[in-house]
Amino acid sequence: MKDLCVIGVGYVGLVTAAGFADLGNRVTALDINEERVRNLRKGILPIYEPGLEEVVRRNVQAGRLAFTTSYDEALSKAEFAFIAVGTPEGVDGEADLRYVRDAAESIARSMQGPLIVINKSTVPVGTGDWVSEIIRSHLPKPLRFAVVSCPEFLREGSALADFLNPARTVLGSMDHEAAEKVAQLHIPLRAPIVITDLRTAEMIKYASNAFLATKISFINEIANICEALGADVKEVATGMGYDPRIGRQFLEAGIGYGGSCFPKDVKALAHMASVQGRNPQLLQAVMDINEDRMRMVLEHIESLSGPFGRKDIGLLGLAFKPNTDDIREAPALKIAGLLLGRGAAVRAYDPVAMDAAARALPTLRMCPDPYALAEGADALVVVTDWNEFKQLDLSRIHKLMRTPNLIDGRNIYEPEEMKAIGFRYRGIGRGYDGSDAAAKRPADKARPR
Ligand SMILES: NC(=O)c1ccc[n+]([C@@H]2O[C@H](COP(=O)([O-])OP(=O)(O)OC[C@H]3O[C@@H](n4cnc5c(N)ncnc54)[C@H](O)[C@@H]3O)[C@@H](O)[C@H]2O)c1
Repeated sequence: MKDLCVIGVGYVGLVTAAGFADLGNRVTALDINEERVRNLRKGILPIYEPGLEEVVRRNVQAGRLAFTTSYDEALSKAEFAFIAVGTPEGVDGEADLRYVRDAAESIARSMQGPLIVINKSTVPVGTGDWVSEIIRSHLPKPLRFAVVSCPEFLREGSALADFLNPARTVLGSMDHEAAEKVAQLHIPLRAPIVITDLRTAEMIKYASNAFLATKISFINEIANICEALGADVKEVATGMGYDPRIGRQFLEAGIGYGGSCFPKDVKALAHMASVQGRNPQLLQAVMDINEDRMRMVLEHIESLSGPFGRKDIGLLGLAFKPNTDDIREAPALKIAGLLLGRGAAVRAYDPVAMDAAARALPTLRMCPDPYALAEGADALVVVTDWNEFKQLDLSRIHKLMRTPNLIDGRNIYEPEEMKAIGFRYRGIGRGYDGSDAAAKRPADKARPR
């Protein structure tokens, strides 16, 4: 059993704290947000994450997990301090490191003995050295410490499961002994552990996220071409995905990537490259393609339902992906903003993200369920592929709508089945699958002679 402190109790920090406590360690989780800490002490979590509430409760009751706003208290016995504060997008796409700097300064002022500082926040290459320097320069008296990079790869929506079953643990440090000690903490997770230097570990995180974003933009580009040529991108992805060199994951054509990580991390990596005089051409294309998805969705909606003025448009889903309430960089909010700007009346339903979305976009009308959303609507747009949307009574939805236009931004329905119900349906990259399908199949024009 080790004494750990986790700094920042958001998606990464709370899962890390609860996860390490569940593995039998004593964890003090710290946040500067007093309301968050007050609520956590009452058992109210600041985020929605499947299974997390139960693990937090169990470990608090067992005395292995506590919450505080005091660095002195959190570091009084800690051998390890995890930094898990936010690193949002700053000026010109550069990562904003102010919370990391504040955390490093506070650690230096409050640490009371030797400490291994483990950085879980996604930070630009070189930040580990900078954090070392900040701690060194703010220490009131000389104390031994080491900085280890341990980038986080969990996915919101399955964060706890990902913590407990990671594909790998990456550790980077200039102090091999410290990295070995952090590796020991991770051994119960039984995943491969890669130990490298600080900068390489920091780069592994950016390269991984940029690669996944590239896969998404790649399949979205293929979807655009499929639409023009009458091929079905879903089947293309399946056919490609059986090749183990390619893999099926992250080949879902749709509205594009969002969330608190991919958009900012791809931008930050491109920024790092540019600052060093490198031209990040591929990353630029990945971002451009993703940006263009908004235009594509609007085109699909307009081509089915006509000009937006006074149209009632319903958005199925607000979270940037299923099983989370996170709406940071959520495509739904961008789409809603664009539609509202063009005179449409927009309403939305999401199983868990409506409160967060209402705070971010107060003019967006919320509906209590998908059927209320459908009532009198001129178009429904699937924005988030929540499982519950796959189980809807679509005949009932069809009857409730004023005009049965269905834009399936996540390809969760089958075009033929939707047409059989009577919808005018448009998926993403699924050939000519709308109600105007009978009009022409462009693939005929492209058939080889
Ligand atoms: N969310 C994800 O899915 C995910 C996945 C992998 C990596 N990451 C990275 O992990 C980091 C954290 O992301 P998140 O989504 O958990 O952020 P978050 O915004 O959900 O949580 C950050 C928390 O840090 C607290 N905080 C800020 N400054 C602090 C300070 N000086 N001392 C103590 N607490 C402080 C905030 O109050 C907040 O509660 C980011 O760098 C992110 O890129 C996130």
